[in-house]
Amino acid sequence: MLWAFPPEHLKRNDPMNALTLRGRLLKFGLALAALTTSLACEAKESRPAPKAAPAPAAAPAPAMEEENADEIKIGHYASLTGSEATFGVSTDNGIKLAVAERNAAGGVKGKKIKLITYDNQGKPQESVVAVTRLIDQDKVVAVLGEVASSRSLAGAPVCQRKGVPMVTPSSTNPDVTSVGNMISRVCFIDPFQGYVGAKFARENLNLSKGATLYNRAQAYSSGLSNNFVESFKKLGGTVVSEQAYSDGDNDFSAQLTAIRAKGAEFIYIPGYYTEVVNIAKQARRLGMNVPLIGGDGWDSEELRNAGDTLNGCYFSNHYSHEDTRPEVVEFIAKYQKEYGKVPDGLAALGYDAARLLFDAMDRADSLSGKDLAAAIAATKNFPGVTGTISMDSKRNATKDAVMLEVVNGVPKYKATIKPE
Ligand code: PHE
Repeated sequence: MLWAFPPEHLKRNDPMNALTLRGRLLKFGLALAALTTSLACEAKESRPAPKAAPAPAAAPAPAMEEENADEIKIGHYASLTGSEATFGVSTDNGIKLAVAERNAAGGVKGKKIKLITYDNQGKPQESVVAVTRLIDQDKVVAVLGEVASSRSLAGAPVCQRKGVPMVTPSSTNPDVTSVGNMISRVCFIDPFQGYVGAKFARENLNLSKGATLYNRAQAYSSGLSNNFVESFKKLGGTVVSEQAYSDGDNDFSAQLTAIRAKGAEFIYIPGYYTEVVNIAKQARRLGMNVPLIGGDGWDSEELRNAGDTLNGCYFSNHYSHEDTRPEVVEFIAKYQKEYGKVPDGLAALGYDAARLLFDAMDRADSLSGKDLAAAIAATKNFPGVTGTISMDSKRNATKDAVMLEVVNGVPKYKATIKPE
C-alpha cells in the first residue's frame, strides 16, 4: 500500500453495516426525518449476524463520525456490491487515489480531506439513505456519485434540497444535472453518446440496419437507446426493431428472436456489463453473429466473462488506457502501483471528479454549499485524465468519446469521436 486509508472507511464498505439495516427499517415506513443519532446507535448495536459473508470477528460497529476541525469531509455513495459492483469499487478506488495524493500534498485550504463511502448495493432507495446520512450525520461538504443515472436521480434531489454540491463522475443521462444548481458532472451526456454509437456504426462499420435492446428500468439505458435511434436515423440508417427488458431479467431469447426476424445488421445494447455478457452469449447461441454495439455501461473487467463472444463488438467510453497523453500515462502508473491493475473508465472518472472538486474548493470563497457549487460550475479547462473538463451552463462537461473494440473481454482503442 502506498497510503494508509482510515480503517473506518473499510468498515463502512461492509454491506451488512448499520446503513443497510437502516435501509430496511426505512422500507417499513420510517420517515427519513426520523434518522436520528440514537436510531443510528441502536441499529448498529442490534445488527444481525451476516449470513453469507461473516464480518471479521474483531470488527466493531462503525463509529459515529467525530468532529475534527482539521478535516474536510466529503462523501461518496456507490454500488460496492450488487450486479454493478465493479462500477462502485473502481470509482471509489479512483477517488481514494485522488484523496491520498491531495492529502500528501497538504490537503485543501490547509486541512486534510476525509472520504466517507457508503455502499448502496446498486439500489436507488439505498442511495437516498446513503446521501441523507452523509449530509445529516456525517456533515460532508460535498458528495461524489453515483455511476448509474437512476441512482444519481435518486440521490441528487437530496443534495439539491439540502444545498450540498454533488458531482457525478459518470452518470450520463441529461436529467441528472437538471435536478438543480447543486448538481454537476465531469462526463459527457447521452445525446452525444448516442450520436457516437450511431456515427461509428454508420461511418466506421458502414452499417445501415440496426436494432436496439435496452433495459426499460434504467434511465440511462432507455434514454441512450432513444438517443441512438434518433442519431442513427438522422445519419440515414434504419432501426428495424426496438426491444426492451427489465432489471433482473436473464432470458433475452424472445427479444433476440424478434430482432433476428427483422434482419438487423447489428444490435445496439445500451445496458450494463452483467446484462451485456448474458445477452451476447444468448445471441451467439441463437446463431446471431452480428456485431453488438454499446455504451459506457459495458465498461468492466467482468466483460472478460464473455470470453470471445464479444469479439468484433464495440462500445463508447470516456477514456482509453492506451491513450498516451501524460495525464493518462501518469494516472495509470499510479493506479497500477496502488491496486495492481489497469484502471477502467470508472476509476479515471472517479479520480477526475475528486480532483475537480478539490480544485473548486481551492477557488471557492468558502466551503458553504452555495460557494462551492458556484466554484464547481465555474470550472474551465480542468486537465482531467478523461479529457479537458469545462462546465457548460447546465453543469455538464463537453468532451470527446472513444470507441473501444472488445478483444477477448479486453477493450482496445478503435476511434475518437468529437462533439458535433
Ligand atoms: N453512464 C452510465 C449511466 O449513466 C454509467 C456508467 C458510466 C457506466 C461509465 C460505466 C462507465 O448510467
